[in-house]
Amino acid sequence: MHTLVSLMPTTTRKRKGKKADDHRTAKGSDIHELYELSVQDPVGEIDTIDRIWKDQRGRTAGSMREDFCGTAAVAREWVKKRPGNTAVGVDLSTEVLDWCRARLDDQLDAAQQDRLTLIEGDVLATPTDPVETILAFNFSYFLFKQRSQVLEYFRSVRDGLAEDGLFILDAYGGSDSFLEMTEDRDLDGFTYVWDQNHYDPISGDVINHIHFKFPDGTKIKKAFTYHWRLWTLPEIQELLLEAGFRNAVVYWEGTDEDTEEGNGEWTEADTGEACEGWIAYLVGIK
Ligand SMILES: C[S@@+](CC[C@H](N)C(=O)[O-])C[C@H]1O[C@@H](n2cnc3c(N)ncnc32)[C@H](O)[C@@H]1O
Repeated sequence: MHTLVSLMPTTTRKRKGKKADDHRTAKGSDIHELYELSVQDPVGEIDTIDRIWKDQRGRTAGSMREDFCGTAAVAREWVKKRPGNTAVGVDLSTEVLDWCRARLDDQLDAAQQDRLTLIEGDVLATPTDPVETILAFNFSYFLFKQRSQVLEYFRSVRDGLAEDGLFILDAYGGSDSFLEMTEDRDLDGFTYVWDQNHYDPISGDVINHIHFKFPDGTKIKKAFTYHWRLWTLPEIQELLLEAGFRNAVVYWEGTDEDTEEGNGEWTEADTGEACEGWIAYLVGIK
């Protein structure tokens, strides 16, 4: 069985060897930094992308676009990973892109920065030069609640890919994903709270919040809120095929024999497991 649903699986989220910082408070904290610490693991995600590429194409990709990039954590890591790698990050929010830009000098050298392009725009209306791989992570495309919107997005992604391109996206589900519940996770000097605040079984709509709590009792409530439709894997696969992808495959997470939780390794699979919470990757193969 896997762990409870949250924005990333436990196995990949923990930062090993880091000392807890008990001095964090709501007032002194930056929600984008806390978000990255809570739900992002760009190194692990790029390992998964590389593994998918080797499986499907026998090589790794060089050019990528990170849709809904937010702080562009994966795009930043991508240009660091290999000297030939290029990345384009697309996000609607000026604020989050400015946050990312303000940190680039500390994180990337000049050559790496030259290979990273950040574009403020709507993923539905921001055509880019063809890239080998396009990513839509942390379920961001769930914001498209109508089939027609998902289809429009998937078609535009297909158009944005090179001839042998791969579209890699993630999805979450499991019996707990249909429940209104919260999950707390203690991290470095703060607690991450995943709040599945609302689920409507008729529309499939969910409202999820991320809150942060601190050792001094202060809180940042609703640091992030997501109004999504909880799409299922068969629906997403059908939409990928309808959008013109030649094939749509699912990568399912393996199970750690000792803990019986997800082991952070995803492999192509035709059947899954009816667990309480899972995160899967899908690949739209052009
Ligand atoms: C859940 S965050 C994902 C951030 C990051 N991709 C990750 O994996 O954690 C969703 C991001 O999508 C952006 N966004 C929402 N609608 C968008 C759209 N139509 N086009 C581009 N970005 C959009 C938001 O500004 C936000 O930064």
